[in-house]
Amino acid sequence: PFFWVIVPAAGVGARMRADRPKQYLELAGRTILEHSLECFLDHPQLKQLVISLSVDDPYWPSLPCADDPRITRANGGKERADSVLSALLKLAELGARPHDWVLVHDAARPNLSRFDLDLLLGELADDAVGGLLAVPARDTLKRIGSDGRVAETVDRSLIWQAYTPQMFRFGALHRALADALVAGAAITDEASAMEWAGLSPRLIEGRADNLKVTRPEDLDWLRQRWSTRG
Ligand code: CTP
Ligand code: MG
Repeated sequence: PFFWVIVPAAGVGARMRADRPKQYLELAGRTILEHSLECFLDHPQLKQLVISLSVDDPYWPSLPCADDPRITRANGGKERADSVLSALLKLAELGARPHDWVLVHDAARPNLSRFDLDLLLGELADDAVGGLLAVPARDTLKRIGSDGRVAETVDRSLIWQAYTPQMFRFGALHRALADALVAGAAITDEASAMEWAGLSPRLIEGRADNLKVTRPEDLDWLRQRWSTRG
């Protein structure tokens, strides 16, 4: 069995407030993006990886992996979902079939372990829909009111955080995402497109440290951790 991978990497990283898109910031001697790709490029079942990039991205061409024959470029779009749809169209050109598995992984999620990747692949191999890595909420959760005060405490056991990779069949994901975007639905990950289409993705519990670099402190945390691990 093999799988395709899509990495949307066309964001600007506004919340990081850095001098470049966050996927090109340095972590342990390489870019965050290179770390995010590594787990897939090391996997024997990878078929092809499509990366969605800004049309005028000046950073990608100088990375060593830009020449990797297993990586194909697609043009990013306005929102993350547009970038993923663009990559799905590229996958169709590359010969993806409706039943093939596609894994979508954030360019800014550099700490995916091989253990979690294989867990996801193994747990979902025979699943009709597919699913995603996710992490149960750890802290007590509050719903905030318009006055900035606690409106209520939310039942934590019912809330999980959606991580990536998210793994779905090429045909079903393509249809769900294209239809949801045409309908103007709010789509922030692949699972929400599948849900919009009436399907129920499975949640596979992954490691909390497979975090997405969103704010400066996330990168500080990863740098600290990577500098101290053996
Ligand atoms: N992404 C993308 N195309 C977009 C927007 C986002 O490919 N139009 C990608 C980002 O590059 C990132 C992933 O989607 O790998 C997750 O999005 P997010 O963390 O929101 O990244 P940014 O949009 O770059 O950050 P911000 O929202 O702070 O601007
Ligand atoms: Mg964003």
